[in-house]
This record gives sequence, structure tokens and C-alpha cells, in this order.
Amino acid sequence: MTPDVLVVAPERFDVIAATTIADLIGASISMRDTCSVALCGGATPEPVYRELTHRSINWASVSIYFGDERAVVPDSHDSNFAMATRAMFDHVAIPGNQIHRMLAERADRGTAAREYDALLPPRLDLLLLGVGPDGHTASLFPGSPAVTEPWRRVVAVAAPAPPLLPNVARMTITPLVVAAARHVVVMVRGADKAAIVQRVLEGPDQPANLPAQFARSGTWIIDQAAAAQLQ
Ligand code: 6PG
Repeated sequence: MTPDVLVVAPERFDVIAATTIADLIGASISMRDTCSVALCGGATPEPVYRELTHRSINWASVSIYFGDERAVVPDSHDSNFAMATRAMFDHVAIPGNQIHRMLAERADRGTAAREYDALLPPRLDLLLLGVGPDGHTASLFPGSPAVTEPWRRVVAVAAPAPPLLPNVARMTITPLVVAAARHVVVMVRGADKAAIVQRVLEGPDQPANLPAQFARSGTWIIDQAAAAQLQ
């Protein structure tokens, strides 16, 4: 499957990513009167979410989900929900009951994952993803049992031990949710991602070792630094 790749200048990354996302949300609302969007975490999307708040979006028709979450309280610095709140939810009129936080901090993360699985729509209209330097996406890490999960759509997982990433305990969507999404947008920027972007997009198909390959058929928005090793 040939990925749809947009290589953009770093200074245009947030605007182009926000425009792409806003257009997909608008198209979904036009066709289905609603849009279910799953957000990703990390550093890359935060300025994109801030830029999104300046777009003309009918937020009352948007339902927000998360692709993954760390096992932290919702106001923790490491929380993807906290990042999305300060960048977006605090600035737009999304009804509170349309924002579905992953309760990854619950002691029984397995039960919390099952409950989140039950509230996910059969198909997300839009799934936003990032890519880690090891090729992970959401909290699907290389070699994790979650990358070959045959039935469950949301599972409790353990990230590789620091220093690669903060917060080992997490909750994540599985590849089943990526495959079912109507649209997937992957956002990657920075020279430190150039090698992994080349392996994911142009290397041999090995999603169990490079889980970001589950999103290879999506729209990839990549800045010039992260695209530097693409042929
Ligand atoms: C998370 C994210 C994760 C992220 C990548 C890239 O919870 O950490 O969902 O999958 O998208 O690690 O993160 P950066 O954008 O910070 O490089």
C-alpha cells in the first residue's frame, strides 16, 4: 500500500497538519453529521491541536477519544488528556460528555481497557497517530503482545523501561482499531525521526517490529527533517 506522504517545511507543519485534520473533520460531519476523532499524545501534536482551535469546526458534532494514555492522573504533566485539555479542550466548545478520557490510572487497567473498548465506535472517523524513534505508534511497542492482539480493541500494556519513554504503564488501542479507522493521519517531525520514518515507509513490512507500519496506508504529514532519508 503506497502511503500518502506530505513533506512540509518545519515552519508550515502545524498549519498544514491542522488544515488536513480540520478538513477531514468537516467532511465527516458533512457526510455523517458527526466525527469521532482519536487523539495521539507526545510533543508533536500539541501545537497542532492549538492551531486546530483557530479553525472553523462544529465542535458540538465532534466526539473525542484517545489512541493511548499513560497510567497517570488526568492533570499529570505526562497525561495525554492533560496536554489535549490545555492545547484544545480549554479553548473550544466540545460538550464534556463527548470527550472520552482513557482511565489508564485505574488500579485495574485491564477492566478499564475493556470498558473503553466498549465505548469506542465500531469505526473511528479519524485516528491521529505519532511515531516514536523505535517505531512505536500509540502505545504499540515493538514486540509487544498488543501488536498481535486478535480480538481486543483496547489493552493495558507496559512501555519499554525508561529512559526511552516516561511512564511504563499505559493503555492503548490495538491494530484492529487502526485498521478500522476511516482515516488515519500520522504526524512526524524532527531529524531524530528520519531513520525510523525511512524504515517504516520504505523498509520491509514487519509491523510486529515496527508498529507504525500498521498506519502505512494513512496520510503521513512529515517535516523535511524527518523526511530526509526517504528515497
Ligand atoms: C504517547 C504517544 C506516542 C507518541 C510518539 C511520538 O503517548 O507517547 O501516543 O505514541 O505519538 O511517542 O511522540 P513525539 O511526538 O513526542 O515524538
